[in-house]
Amino acid sequence: MQDIATEHLQADEAGIDRAAWHLRHGHLVALPTETVYGLGADATDDLAVARIFGAKQRPRFNPLILHVPDLAAAQAVADLSGDALRLAEAFWPGPLTLLAPLREEAGVAPLVTAGHDRVAVRVPDLDLTREVLRRAAVPVAAPSANISGKVSPTRAEHVLNGLSGRIEAVLDGGPCTVGVESTIVGFDNGGPRLLRPGGLPAEALAECLGTAVHLGPDPETPIAPGQMSSHYAPSARLRLGVTEPLPGETLLGFGPTEAEWTLSRSGDLTEAAARLFHVLREMDAAGIERIAVAPIPMTGLGLAINDRLSRAAAPR
Ligand code: TXA
Ligand code: MG
Repeated sequence: MQDIATEHLQADEAGIDRAAWHLRHGHLVALPTETVYGLGADATDDLAVARIFGAKQRPRFNPLILHVPDLAAAQAVADLSGDALRLAEAFWPGPLTLLAPLREEAGVAPLVTAGHDRVAVRVPDLDLTREVLRRAAVPVAAPSANISGKVSPTRAEHVLNGLSGRIEAVLDGGPCTVGVESTIVGFDNGGPRLLRPGGLPAEALAECLGTAVHLGPDPETPIAPGQMSSHYAPSARLRLGVTEPLPGETLLGFGPTEAEWTLSRSGDLTEAAARLFHVLREMDAAGIERIAVAPIPMTGLGLAINDRLSRAAAPR
């Protein structure tokens, strides 16, 4: 990846404005929150979201949390009702992330949810960052602002140590007050589930809902092939690493190709990641039943693309 000059923005009027400007232009900005610094991008911009995974060197397309300035903005991207709404009203702004049905009309890039129909959303408890989110006027996808596998950053210096030269800016909000990631709550069959313990204690959830909130499956646990039902997979069957498609197969190309369908004609892995879920959906919509996918290099974002493709190709 090319080295870019990373701006170190201060927590003042000019810094807030500049951070919002970067977000509106599809750039990557590390934002402080009360938990940890997040690596933010416009969640409605496919390429910007793909760049998050590239900058973090994430080997998998884990879904990302949306950051919004208030409950009304959250309702625009997710359908919050019942217990989810009660928790939102009780604890936002604060270190609580809620999983709720995604509103298709919000135009959120499919990479944000990894193709799921539920989206994670939260309102961070930091005036500075909520003002940036208000001015950016788009939902901001943000995983922790660290290189994948390293500890989460709680100061602007930590962000710069890992990501300097890979992102456009970091907004310096000083040290994070909570210091651990948000508590994630999901709902299955209507019941609340603690998916990740975090900054908001489980006891507080239980007290608000009047019922214990039990630990659910950890969303970070890798999903084995065969347990793929919760992931988006196309109806078409996939064969990977194909240079010569068989009769009856439609080639999904990468790099210079005569094929009608392609992840990136120029062989750009960021573009390929940004297009991946869209192309699979479009090929389904076109009624294609067998897809032969051209080889994708195992470098940079290629790791995550190949991971996602092999899940989509797993027997089901
Ligand atoms: O405190 C936090 O939550 C920080 C700050 C920046 O807000 N963010 C954070 O993001 O910790 P990240 O990407 O490091 O962790 C997000 C977690 C992952 O475990 C992911 O699997 C889960 O949230 N997640 C996000 N969207 C999901 C979805 N649609 N379905 C299931 N799990 C989801
Ligand atoms: Mg993280």
